[in-house]
Amino acid sequence: KVQNIALTPPMGWNSWNTFGTEINEQLVMDMADAFVDLGLRDAGYEYLVLDDGWMAKERDEDNNLVADPNKFPNGMKKVVDYVHARRLKFGIYNCAGNKTCAGYPGSRSFEYQDAKRYAQWGVDFLKYDWCNTENLNAKGAYETMRDALYATGRPILFSICEWGDHEPWKWGEEMGHMWRVTGDIINCWDCTVGHGTWSSLGVWPIVKLRKDIRQYAGPGHWNDFDMMEVGNGMSAAEDRVHFSLWAMLASPLIMGNDLRSAAQETIEILTNEEVIAVNQDSLGIQAYCHSDEGDMEIWAKPLANGEWALAFVNMAKKDIQINYDWNKHPVKDDLSSRALELNKNIYKIRDLYHHKDLGNTQSFLKSNIKGHDVLMLRLEPNNK
Ligand code: GLA
Repeated sequence: KVQNIALTPPMGWNSWNTFGTEINEQLVMDMADAFVDLGLRDAGYEYLVLDDGWMAKERDEDNNLVADPNKFPNGMKKVVDYVHARRLKFGIYNCAGNKTCAGYPGSRSFEYQDAKRYAQWGVDFLKYDWCNTENLNAKGAYETMRDALYATGRPILFSICEWGDHEPWKWGEEMGHMWRVTGDIINCWDCTVGHGTWSSLGVWPIVKLRKDIRQYAGPGHWNDFDMMEVGNGMSAAEDRVHFSLWAMLASPLIMGNDLRSAAQETIEILTNEEVIAVNQDSLGIQAYCHSDEGDMEIWAKPLANGEWALAFVNMAKKDIQINYDWNKHPVKDDLSSRALELNKNIYKIRDLYHHKDLGNTQSFLKSNIKGHDVLMLRLEPNNK
């Protein structure tokens, strides 16, 4: 009963990281236009997702959800149609509890009614949160909504937003297409900000916390490392690392910045088709940490046709010179039993940010990586 969609990690934009509940009709239309004008749609971004705050505070007299009439004076169907007219898909948000995290009407005990409503509007994606759930069983609650979506007969991607306490990776594949793995992301390299009962996590704390659940991800069902903070305040180099990691981890690539005012540098990162291709690889294998010696971390991701992606990350703030002997560091993924076969193949090396070829694995890899930056490579085998 899980719909057969999202065979590669979903790509899109979500309103929450930048706008919180301050969303409205004009914003949706502007973002849809930006998808097209900035080449984001052509790069593969597809879903425009409205997060919490779109609803009126109460259901109507028939218990239907209604869009906030001040924010969406022409109703939700109007904006969905606008998005569809630009050959994009539309996503919406609700919650398994009685109220959403920001206090709007939740779906608890209205699951089928709400799913029908979304289908009538033409919704293509539902992010389903986990606030105000009291004693609800997580797996059961997501199962109910999954079945309600399925019953509409409309393909609707189901994005599970439970923050890891109920280990959604263990049951998520049966319920939906992606599941959050941690609490909310925040726009920093390695900070953690506590809020009493929960914490927001920067890029590295998220990655480190959940690097060991890679066996649960695959085509149609993904570990969701949360909406991206690219363009939201980190340096361009740090944004590159963030984007590279999300690509390597086969995470959904959901932008979270204001596309209307995005810097050229930000758009270049987000539309880097060579990095996106790593994320969208058909095998759908999540990267693992191949080595983390000194100031450098190397992440490796097996790709289709014996290719590999490797990301060399400089964790320090000063430049790092690398002089890397491929033969000394056998690249092997125990999970998928794939390896760089240097005895059989010579691998051609491509630098995915400078868009140039860097020779092959017969010589040492030499490069300078700036502080908090990344050298991201794609290796293509040729028989010896
Ligand atoms: C939770 C989710 C966020 C966002 C907010 C909305 O915190 O994890 O991604 O959807 O709720 O209130």
